[in-house]
Amino acid sequence: MKKYILFFFLPVLLIGLHACDEGRIYENAVVATGEGRTVKMTGRISGVDKWSGDYCVVVAGFDDESDYAIVSKVVPVSESDNDEIRLTMSGITDEVTTVELCVINKLRKRIVSLVAMECTEIADTILMDAGTVDASMYNAIQQKIFNATCTACHGLSTTPGGGLNLLEGHSHADLVNRASTTVDGKMRVMPGNASESVLHLILGTDISSDWRIDHSQMITSSDMQSLIGNWIDDGAQP
Ligand code: HEC
Repeated sequence: MKKYILFFFLPVLLIGLHACDEGRIYENAVVATGEGRTVKMTGRISGVDKWSGDYCVVVAGFDDESDYAIVSKVVPVSESDNDEIRLTMSGITDEVTTVELCVINKLRKRIVSLVAMECTEIADTILMDAGTVDASMYNAIQQKIFNATCTACHGLSTTPGGGLNLLEGHSHADLVNRASTTVDGKMRVMPGNASESVLHLILGTDISSDWRIDHSQMITSSDMQSLIGNWIDDGAQP
């Protein structure tokens, strides 16, 4: 049955080239079954268009066990940051216990959760007010990686490690197209080239193993390493 629905909606694939359009297949397939609850999300959500093609900002339903979305619907790009976005998604089956505004990858795995809401109560309609959200790729890196793991030494201390300040409002200017203080001839971030960027190398390889601080085990999640790599390869936009 599922296969039949997928084939039925296959022409949708041909309409757009952006990876997010693939999401609409799932969305339509789910709606076509006509069962389950409905989520109505509202919010002022900026930065949706700043993700590289490997990712999609969506409203999605998850169960407790898996990081893979059971249902998802692509959040439209708002014309201006102040526009309120309204999104309705049907087909939220009983197995869904959390509805999230989040970022998923092509496999529909949750990469970054922006707003999460439990929905275990029996209600036909789930109302979700996401509020004002900066959903851009760089803000996700700032919040989930730099603020969580790096700023204690890179900004909050009196002398930032390696002279690199990773605090919000400083990090982008301190990283992009700035010469590395530790590796001769390399940039901290060279837009379009993650494999030549010290930020990517320091987290994904052992180049820092004999520095004062070994960074190689700081980010063990391959999803977070890919997030940094894809952001750089896609132009390192603010
Ligand atoms: C425990 C303190 C500490 C933490 C936590 C830390 N760093 Fe560092 N970092 C340093 C120090 C110190 C240096 C300079 C290394 C040296 O001089 O040997 C450095 C250097 C760097 C450099 C090289 C800068 C350049 O110009 O070449 C990058 C990039 C970097 N860190 C990124 C990060 C990121 C990203 C995180 C979080 C995932 C992080 N660091 C977490 C202390 C830290």
